[in-house]
Amino acid sequence: MGHAHITASVYTSHVPAIGAALDQGRQHEPYWQPLFEGYKFSQQWLRENTPDVIFLVYNDHATAFSLDMIPTFAIGTAAQYAVADEGWGPRPVPKVIGHPELAAHIAHSVIQDDFDLTIVNRMDVDHGLTVPLSLLCGQPPPEHFAWPCPVIPLAVNVVQYPVPSGRRCFNLGRAIRKAVQSYEQPLKVQIWGTGGMSHQLQGPRAGLINADFDQRFLDRLIADPQGLAELPHIDYVREAGSEGIELVMWLVARGAMSDNAPRLRHRFYHVPASNTAVGHLILENT
Ligand code: DHB
Ligand code: FE
Repeated sequence: MGHAHITASVYTSHVPAIGAALDQGRQHEPYWQPLFEGYKFSQQWLRENTPDVIFLVYNDHATAFSLDMIPTFAIGTAAQYAVADEGWGPRPVPKVIGHPELAAHIAHSVIQDDFDLTIVNRMDVDHGLTVPLSLLCGQPPPEHFAWPCPVIPLAVNVVQYPVPSGRRCFNLGRAIRKAVQSYEQPLKVQIWGTGGMSHQLQGPRAGLINADFDQRFLDRLIADPQGLAELPHIDYVREAGSEGIELVMWLVARGAMSDNAPRLRHRFYHVPASNTAVGHLILENT
């Protein structure tokens, strides 16, 4: 019958203003047009390569988890996830359908592999998860108001220190790969790493962008992920800003890919979107 396997990984920033621009139909305005242009290829690619499940690594922004309780890694095992109200009402996008069986299997395998995941049976999902889906899927039509496939969310704490290291994220990705490959159904699974790139939202350095760091990060994520995983968190903060630390989530997705060199299908980089540099990659397993 065959086992599940990871077909490809997708990496993208998650800027909330992108969601607002889409929801308000402003994609063709001069400010936004070059950004959405960079995702045209990706939307076509996803239509042609729709997986059975997307495993989506993202961060919650004090929406589902307040500062009362902060799991480092939290896997969603629910059947569905409501779209969060982040202060302006929930985005007018479909609710997210989960995959409880595969999620429970991955939780079992990864926890037995010594990674402590928090199991989440109920959670609202914020722009960290919905904006990447919007960028890659566009707005689903009213007659079929749904995302193209089920999604398993993995929330990573990159908001409150201490945050997990790049190395731990990369190794978690490897454990997720092993978990997926031991699931006894022939599912095609994509893994998405989201957040970043360089940005800082507060303090004297608010507005910081570092295109050199970002481009080098993309180069190394493609060609030297294991070396990149050794970068200490303080270097992300110094070089890519306090919110640039979101980039460690890309290493979870990269760690879940095959050890063979991936096929680069798409690379895009754009500044600015709101306060953020936007980066985007599609890598396929060969
Ligand atoms: C912005 C970027 C983020 O990553 C985020 O979570 C919130 C806001 C911004 O650029 O405004
Ligand atoms: Fe963010």
